[in-house]
Amino acid sequence: MSPSGAIGVFDSGVGGLSVLHHIRQRLPHERLVYIADSGHVPYGDKSPAYIEQRSHTLTRFLIEQGADAIVIACNTATAAAVASLRMQFNIPIIGMEPAVKPAVAATRSGVVGVLATVGTLESARFAALLERYGEEVEIVTQGCPGLVEQVEQGELDSAKTRQLVERYTAPLLARGADTLILGCTHYPFLAPLIRDIAGQDISLVDTGAAVARQLQRRMESELPARERGDATARFFTSGDPVFATRIVSVLWGSSTAVQTLPRDFL
Ligand code: DGL
Repeated sequence: MSPSGAIGVFDSGVGGLSVLHHIRQRLPHERLVYIADSGHVPYGDKSPAYIEQRSHTLTRFLIEQGADAIVIACNTATAAAVASLRMQFNIPIIGMEPAVKPAVAATRSGVVGVLATVGTLESARFAALLERYGEEVEIVTQGCPGLVEQVEQGELDSAKTRQLVERYTAPLLARGADTLILGCTHYPFLAPLIRDIAGQDISLVDTGAAVARQLQRRMESELPARERGDATARFFTSGDPVFATRIVSVLWGSSTAVQTLPRDFL
């Protein structure tokens, strides 16, 4: 039996590590358990039912590992699964969505670009966000097939990644966007490349810090105060553990062993 009192975090792959960095910064003593569902990446072109089923499987595993709070570090999985996860599991479940509200507040040109997966852009949750904030400024959306795969490969600055980023940002910049929403947790790892292409004046907005803040609030109000945790972080994958160990170590910033999920959860 695993010790209780951990924060469970999952994403379709390594993108959610961009959120995990914010969680670690805000909650330095917590025990973290992270799953990169890289055996099923990308989520962006999968059906909502498929993603929902994966999200339930991963959440069950995280709870088995002692998680008493779950962070869905993935915009696509949040859109597909947060409602049913909250119905099924009676613990704090923190989801995320593209940072439309802060971007609308930040733009000076009055045009905001959204880079996200097709799954996120086609979701009812995103449509509701646009309805709520899309009156105030022009919001231009851009699906980015292939970009998640580049980050999964650790290709943060290769010729192919650059080509894709150029292709996806060009229509938004041509429209006059001065603010780009990074609406997928993989994209913050491409921020230096995006700035290089879009210009240093571009504002890039993502939701990682807000998610960590919200997690801390929910834990303070809903979970009993617990002893100082052991500040560990454990990593699991449904993909190739050797490859995952390499890429997670790079993106997490320290040498990190990634274990394969038990067979029932693959
Ligand atoms: N990182 C996920 C997100 O925030 C998406 C990834 C995918 O398409 O697998 O939307």
